[in-house]
Amino acid sequence: MSHSLKSFASDNNAPVHDAVFQAMLESNRGDAIGYGDDIHTMAAEKHFKEIFGKDARVFFMLTGTGANAAGLSHITRPYHAIVCSDKAHMENDECGAPEKITGCKLIRLPSEDGKIKPSQILPHLDSIGFQHHSQPKVVSVTQATELGTVYRPEEISEIAHFTREHDLYLHMDGARLANAAASLDLSLSEISGKAGVDLLSFGGTKNGAMAAEALIFFNQDLADGFEYTRKQSMQLMSKMRYISAQFNALFSGGLWLENARKANRMAKMLAERIEDIPSITITQQVETNGVFAMMPRAAIEKLRRRYFFYTWDARKNEVRLMTSYNTTEHDIDGFVEAIRESLRK
Ligand SMILES: Cc1ncc(COP(=O)(O)O)c(C=O)c1O
Repeated sequence: MSHSLKSFASDNNAPVHDAVFQAMLESNRGDAIGYGDDIHTMAAEKHFKEIFGKDARVFFMLTGTGANAAGLSHITRPYHAIVCSDKAHMENDECGAPEKITGCKLIRLPSEDGKIKPSQILPHLDSIGFQHHSQPKVVSVTQATELGTVYRPEEISEIAHFTREHDLYLHMDGARLANAAASLDLSLSEISGKAGVDLLSFGGTKNGAMAAEALIFFNQDLADGFEYTRKQSMQLMSKMRYISAQFNALFSGGLWLENARKANRMAKMLAERIEDIPSITITQQVETNGVFAMMPRAAIEKLRRRYFFYTWDARKNEVRLMTSYNTTEHDIDGFVEAIRESLRK
């Protein structure tokens, strides 16, 4: 299916940012040693250490699903269980990759806003030490969540404190960590490593890059041997310089933040422009770059003829409208006008 019109379906639908593509082009000169022993990768690793601390171990990955599955497989055994929210990408949108690759059971906790709390995790720890049950070993949170909400650093610290106390690891799916940091006006590390996360899947793709993801270990011991796990997980890119060059473009002049702020700002603008329409109900706090809204089914169908977006929950006529760094005010104007028209009889 091809859509020539503007997409509000996902930040995955945005093009690669021009400066990121330019950086790839600039790295496309002459030979460079493969698999990461090149100057671009060294520079990118330096950026990650500046951002996440000198003890952070970073491994570049190709997809968010790959980062989640390979990272989790490295820190678990197949008899373990991973606790996450029932809205988690790894639970709903990774085609069972985390279960297949780790062998672990996923324990899904009900969540209205995509976030989970220690009090929900605690009852699941009763099975620890009972040989007939999967053994909880990791708690995974998503920042920003699949519903566009964000964990405050103290909420992450509370979960981290809990995981430490119970000998569990804390994994963060940070496919949109940049959007969360921009929303909270905090650094990337204040809402991940500094708040107690052990393992972070960090996303560049939704922030203006392509196939540029990273796995960051804050717990050094956990990183041991991950280079072998990455290779076995088929996430080691031979022409690594093209991944690294993208991170260099995002991190050298603050482009990552500019992109995330723009995407968030466009979502807020969209929400503000539609929230007073009587037949529309916004269902989630608009904290990053997604707007979740209920609207009449007939209007959704009409709107879909002109714009690409996803229905999030068909039973509730709830749609998910995503913005990206590439969304403009003009796009919002056009979309809001189309929403209003779709609601007219
Ligand atoms: C929260 C979250 N995690 C991870 C991913 C990773 O996806 P992919 O494997 O498509 O790169 C996505 C993509 O939409 C996501 O939204």
